[in-house]
Amino acid sequence: MSFSAKPLLLRNIRQLLTLRSSQPGPRRGAALKELGIIEDAAVLCVAGKIVSVGKTKEALRDSWLKKNRRRVVEIDCAGKVVLPGFVDSHTHPAFLSPRLVDFEKRIAGATYEEIAQAGGGVRSSVDAVRAASIKELSARVLAALVEMSSHGTTTVEAKSGYGLSLESEIKSLEAIRNAAAGWMGTVVPTLLGAHVVPKEFKKNPQKYVELVCKQMIPHAAKRRLAKFVDVFCDKGAFTAQDAEKIFAAAVKHGLQVRAHVCQLSETVLWPLLKFNPASFDHMDHVNEDDVPQLAKRDTVATLVPGANYFLGLEEYPPARKLIDAGVPVALASDYNPGSSPTPSMPFVLSLACTHMKMSPAETIVAATINGASALGLQDRKGSIEPGKDADLAIFEAGDYREIAYWFGVNHCVASVAHGVIVKPEP
Ligand code: NIG
Ligand code: FE
Repeated sequence: MSFSAKPLLLRNIRQLLTLRSSQPGPRRGAALKELGIIEDAAVLCVAGKIVSVGKTKEALRDSWLKKNRRRVVEIDCAGKVVLPGFVDSHTHPAFLSPRLVDFEKRIAGATYEEIAQAGGGVRSSVDAVRAASIKELSARVLAALVEMSSHGTTTVEAKSGYGLSLESEIKSLEAIRNAAAGWMGTVVPTLLGAHVVPKEFKKNPQKYVELVCKQMIPHAAKRRLAKFVDVFCDKGAFTAQDAEKIFAAAVKHGLQVRAHVCQLSETVLWPLLKFNPASFDHMDHVNEDDVPQLAKRDTVATLVPGANYFLGLEEYPPARKLIDAGVPVALASDYNPGSSPTPSMPFVLSLACTHMKMSPAETIVAATINGASALGLQDRKGSIEPGKDADLAIFEAGDYREIAYWFGVNHCVASVAHGVIVKPEP
């Protein structure tokens, strides 16, 4: 989408969380708490970029602003907190329907794995995606993106993964591209052909791995439909050996890699590390010995507690263990019909505080600049600094900690993407 944004001035901001830092790469340790707060602040955005950040008083003295004030759109942000738009670095929006039968089965006591073995889970979303028209699927993805931006998200990583055939995975990526074209924010597409083995390949899973490597990846790369390739590398899905093959094919075709790991069991991570994955996601059952290795790298541990909440698990991702060891951590929604049907990053922040003992400041860094790092977008997204994309979230709050404090309500007043105001849906 092309953006013809008028200059935009946000002024009188009660708390502006700039997240400015001189530290390159993902934030870790003490830097995970640094919000770079300015009170009574202003942000000026021109042509979709942030051009100045500071105190309102100083902004209003700026000579360019004085000369151009009449053509500037202004928002009075008194009593509001402004932060970088959330970067939701892990979502699965290319599906048709909620999974209500699985929902009821789980309430009655079945586990995620039992449901999957009985034909539920990811596989139960596949028929509808295969049968859907691209128009229908694009509309579903766009509706999800709109909901996300109404909760303050301006960048979304969006995975395919419910088609599980060459045609339907490519259709899913096309739907993601169509939806992105109709949305103000930024979408990073990921091929997740290796979500699970579809039932027609049950007897010969290696043939499916071959299809992913030899057909899906080359097609998606050639048509520039994906930036990343993801693999669900866990019990009941793909092995580390499969993931190595899939990552090697991705790299060969110029795509970057990321993986679902350690959600259900302890995934062996070292064979995957040589591909420099942008992120390892879930990480519930990470091996103790892998933690110091991860602390030395820029691979981001992306934690998705919405899945633990929705699956009714007692345990949550070990955020403290990872953060205290120096691993860079991001938070994401994992928006999907099976394990995390929420578009709301503020709810994810709330879960990270209450169940993972992250501080409110850490959750904000994890959901903005570290999400951007997990997508290779840290130079454009995730902090409010001159030269970066004008992607902002405006919250009705006197203090940033309220963003993670309230839950079950949406206090996002508006988000701004590429300098354009995106109104929340009524
Ligand atoms: O991240 N773990 C694999 N994928 C999703 C679940 C997808 C689904 O159940 O549809 C997840 O939780
Ligand atoms: Fe996921």
